Amino acid sequence: MKAIVFHAHGDVDNLKLEDIPAPSVGADEVLIRVRAVSLNGFDPMMLQGTTNLKTPLPMIPGGDFAGEIVELGSAVDRTRWKPGDRVCSYPVIEGIGLLGELVRGACCELISMPAANLLRMPDDISFTDAAALPIAYGTALRMMRTRGQVKTDEKVLVLGATGGVGTCAVQLASMAGAEVIACGSAEWKLAKLKEIGATHVIDTSKDDFREVIHRMYGKPSFYGGGGVDVVVNYIGGDTWVPSLKCLTQRGRLLICGATAGYDPKEDLRYIWSFEHTIIGCDGWYPEDQTKLMNMVVEGKLKPVLHSVRPLEETPQAMQELIDRKVFGKSVLTV
Ligand SMILES: NC(=O)c1ccc[n+]([C@@H]2O[C@H](COP(=O)([O-])OP(=O)(O)OC[C@H]3O[C@@H](n4cnc5c(N)ncnc54)[C@H](OP(=O)(O)O)[C@@H]3O)[C@@H](O)[C@H]2O)c1
Repeated sequence: MKAIVFHAHGDVDNLKLEDIPAPSVGADEVLIRVRAVSLNGFDPMMLQGTTNLKTPLPMIPGGDFAGEIVELGSAVDRTRWKPGDRVCSYPVIEGIGLLGELVRGACCELISMPAANLLRMPDDISFTDAAALPIAYGTALRMMRTRGQVKTDEKVLVLGATGGVGTCAVQLASMAGAEVIACGSAEWKLAKLKEIGATHVIDTSKDDFREVIHRMYGKPSFYGGGGVDVVVNYIGGDTWVPSLKCLTQRGRLLICGATAGYDPKEDLRYIWSFEHTIIGCDGWYPEDQTKLMNMVVEGKLKPVLHSVRPLEETPQAMQELIDRKVFGKSVLTV
């Protein structure tokens, strides 16, 4: 089968389109023909080897996919699954980890997967939309609703709003009736942020988001008022302390990652004096993913697709992610 493979960490030149043997199918597994696969912010990190995770090499990127069942392992429930069923996967393999991080991903023609990880796709969702949802949108759903409890009329600042998690966070906050202030690093991205529900936008390539928030809502005061109710910050690095300074008294800071650095400078004074709550969010559950697919079918949510192009163009798609030239999700069709 054809697959995008990297044998060593490095830049996108390490991604090669290769012919490799199709995966074997264990008794509890199914073999799936991949129809669409999407990239996430962690894919460049795995390629470049910039995390502490021990990615097994050679590796295939791509944690999110949708496709059709080709073959069932001997122990798989035949009353539940059959060849031809349209499925996507909950990509966290129990006891091992995430597809594309610790298990070979889905930038390939065929993938085998425990039947326990399968989710049935509703009839009216496309392979490309279903492949865009799991990791980024699943995490955003859990972060904005289950953990973050974002509500009507709250002011919600979303940093890095232009990525996979960010575009969904903006849509969910807007759906909740919040006033959304969305940050992006290029003018072309800002217009798109407004189209998906941002009330205000901040161009972080030109403006300091903390100064803009203080101008818009006032500097947070010990006695109440000023700042925003919620900051969504999975960027970390130099954005961490400024984002604390944007939060109103008893504000909530939601975090699911640290794209620009996990050990930023801290200023503890803001956390105690303003009684901030820092809310960590890690992953999501299969039922969240099913809920997202149903929201798409019902027309309540539209995955933001930056591009849909053939698997062979994975290196270009990956380079765009590295260069921050993506708005939403990059999908590859197989
Ligand atoms: N814990 C979990 O379960 C979980 C799940 C999913 C994702 N995550 C994490 O959440 C974060 C976002 O993931 P994603 O898939 O949405 O990523 P993504 O699509 O690459 O989006 C990240 C966004 O961050 C912005 N950004 C700001 N500073 C950046 C920098 N120094 N380098 C790169 N981008 C920067 C970029 O927008 P601008 O250029 O417009 O600023 C980009 O659109 C990542 O850290 C990821 O690891 C965690």
